[in-house]
Amino acid sequence: MQAIVLHTPGDAHVLQLETVPTPTVRPGWSLLQVKGFGINRSEIFTRNGWSPSVTLPRILGIEAVGVIADTTDPARLPVGQRAVTLMGGLGRDFDGGYAEYVLVPNVQLYPVTTDLSWPELAAVPETYFTAYGSLRNLQLTTDDTLLIRGATSGVGVAAAKLAQAMGVHQLIGSTRNLAKTPQLQAVGFDRVVEERDGVLQVPPATADKVLELVGPLTMTDSLRVLKPGGIACVTGELGGVWSADFDPITALPPDAYLTAFSSGSVTEAKFQAMLDLITAHRLDVTPTRVFTLAETADAQAFLDSHASFGKVVVCP
Ligand SMILES: NC(=O)c1ccc[n+]([C@@H]2O[C@H](COP(=O)([O-])OP(=O)(O)OC[C@H]3O[C@@H](n4cnc5c(N)ncnc54)[C@H](OP(=O)(O)O)[C@@H]3O)[C@@H](O)[C@H]2O)c1
Repeated sequence: MQAIVLHTPGDAHVLQLETVPTPTVRPGWSLLQVKGFGINRSEIFTRNGWSPSVTLPRILGIEAVGVIADTTDPARLPVGQRAVTLMGGLGRDFDGGYAEYVLVPNVQLYPVTTDLSWPELAAVPETYFTAYGSLRNLQLTTDDTLLIRGATSGVGVAAAKLAQAMGVHQLIGSTRNLAKTPQLQAVGFDRVVEERDGVLQVPPATADKVLELVGPLTMTDSLRVLKPGGIACVTGELGGVWSADFDPITALPPDAYLTAFSSGSVTEAKFQAMLDLITAHRLDVTPTRVFTLAETADAQAFLDSHASFGKVVVCP
């Protein structure tokens, strides 16, 4: 099969297409023919050599969608079944989705019912599930003003679409680059605000709920803009900082809550519930750009560029 194998860390050009043996099934694992996969910021981290637990060579890719090509669980995962996979060591502890086929533990293959096209479905697993789980943890209601910090990211745009499906009252998005305002408005943001040197250009107590995608670097500033009784969910680390040194007693507004989300909490039932929400509201989950497997390096470089907006996928 053809695959993108990372042999040595480096910039995007180290991601070259090569021919490798197609994996064969072993007990408890089944083979997915990859029809598409999303590109994720964490894979760029790994490519750069910033994931010390990942040993090389490794086929990267923490998510994939496709059809079961060979199975050790014909009842739940029959050949031809559409399925998705994400996280759980995929593309890190064992070879991942940047390939024509990927061998995955059965417990990490989630059969899905959907009429989305392959590029659409490829945009969904990691990004939409992360957005969906974060909005659940934020206990989003139809009275809420939601501020998404890092709104132009794939997760940010996905959260905006899902929040509208859930009937959010007002949607505010932040970016460091206000030239992206029309793109944010086009995906439903009511208001776009600037992120300048780690400070949101809004007064205190602006939002009932904050989805923090820049991460621990700006978390305290996000708590500043939260209303009393509000909830902030830390889900991303776009700022490149992984932990925070902060005083929760003074940083949190009165009666406010701080939570977090990890896509590692995925289950088959939660994933299908999210797909059903997408279907019921006919959400447009079309990725911003679609690349071929041979263009995976270009796909990563695009995501890493200042022009980046929304979800980027590869369809082998
Ligand atoms: N908790 C989980 O389970 C989970 C799962 C998936 C992803 N994540 C995290 O969620 C975040 C979003 O992921 P993604 O794949 O959707 O990201 P992405 O699409 O790669 O995000 C790109 C956007 O990030 C913004 N950005 C980059 N560096 C920034 C910085 N230093 N400060 C502020 N904004 C910055 C840029 O926006 P502007 O130029 O417009 O400002 C750019 O448009 C990442 O941190 C990712 O690691 C977490």
